[in-house]
Amino acid sequence: MTISDYVLGMPKIELHIHIEGTIEGQLLFDIADRNGIKLPYETPDDILALQNSNKTSDTESLRSFLECLDASRGALRRDTDYYEIAMSFYSRAKQENIQYAEIMFDPQQAVRQGVPFEGCIEALCQARDDALERFHVRSQWIMNLQRDFSLESAVETLSNAEKYREDIVAVGLDNFEVSNFPRKFLPLFDLARAQGYHLTSHCDVHQPNSLNHIRDCLNLLRVERLDHGLDAYFDESLSQDILERGIGVAACPTFYSAGESCPDKTMECIRGMLDMGVLISLNSDDPVQLGSGWLSSALASAQASGGFSDNEIKKFMQNAVQSSWMERSQKTSLLSDLNDY
Ligand code: HPA
Ligand code: ZN
Repeated sequence: MTISDYVLGMPKIELHIHIEGTIEGQLLFDIADRNGIKLPYETPDDILALQNSNKTSDTESLRSFLECLDASRGALRRDTDYYEIAMSFYSRAKQENIQYAEIMFDPQQAVRQGVPFEGCIEALCQARDDALERFHVRSQWIMNLQRDFSLESAVETLSNAEKYREDIVAVGLDNFEVSNFPRKFLPLFDLARAQGYHLTSHCDVHQPNSLNHIRDCLNLLRVERLDHGLDAYFDESLSQDILERGIGVAACPTFYSAGESCPDKTMECIRGMLDMGVLISLNSDDPVQLGSGWLSSALASAQASGGFSDNEIKKFMQNAVQSSWMERSQKTSLLSDLNDY
């Protein structure tokens, strides 16, 4: 994949990236060794092979991808592991010219593996502060709750987060959506809204009941942003509603495609929503564990597969700024940098 100088040099914003999906091969193997964990891969290249092992349907693809993610993030056992993977991401973000990122983390996974909630969030916040000083990358943390875990576990996690309210900008949902409907988390979202968090949720692409998931995330959970959510394009009234309500759509063009070309159906939705004027942005999701690539390469793939002009690629970044939760002054400054670019 060739990446143009225009894409490489563009000031970038990343709104949909999971810190546990950014662990590069050698670092992952070092962490696993240190923690005495046997990974289900022999070499870093095997990560993608496992992820691609079952692509018989979109649902099986999602399942096998999430199993692969579990295998990698299952090696994280100490708060220092979280610090290290975050710093590794930030140094990459600097190379990518990412100016600002809203990064997701999954505390339930950490706690299950023996890392206390406090240790996990404090390590991530330390990395955020160190990265600002060392790399000049600004960021905020989004706390994701896992859909396949119970409501009670999610509510308990939210209450553990209370002390860190100022360090967590938003609450979201991720993991396997298929039989885990948004309604299950209505009390969680009501609590999180009352505590002043911004709200987002994954609505994975091309899953059974995708449209119902999106509708319920918007109307029951009242999220302000969708992670993925592309199937809404296939329903005129739903996509119109997203447009009129100014809902951000944090899309990932290389989701399921291991970084190279982007699936046609995905491209059709991205192109359609951009042309409608929806606040759609392009993001990387899980650059290593999903093989979706770092942001520049995801943008270059989208450009090659979807025929987006340089100005349209810039528009995705402007949309990201508009639908982000950064401070107003930072929005103004980044929009002006993009405008001049
Ligand atoms: N979808 C669902 N769960 C996830 C994803 C995703 O794209 N990335 C990490 N966890
Ligand atoms: Zn995601």
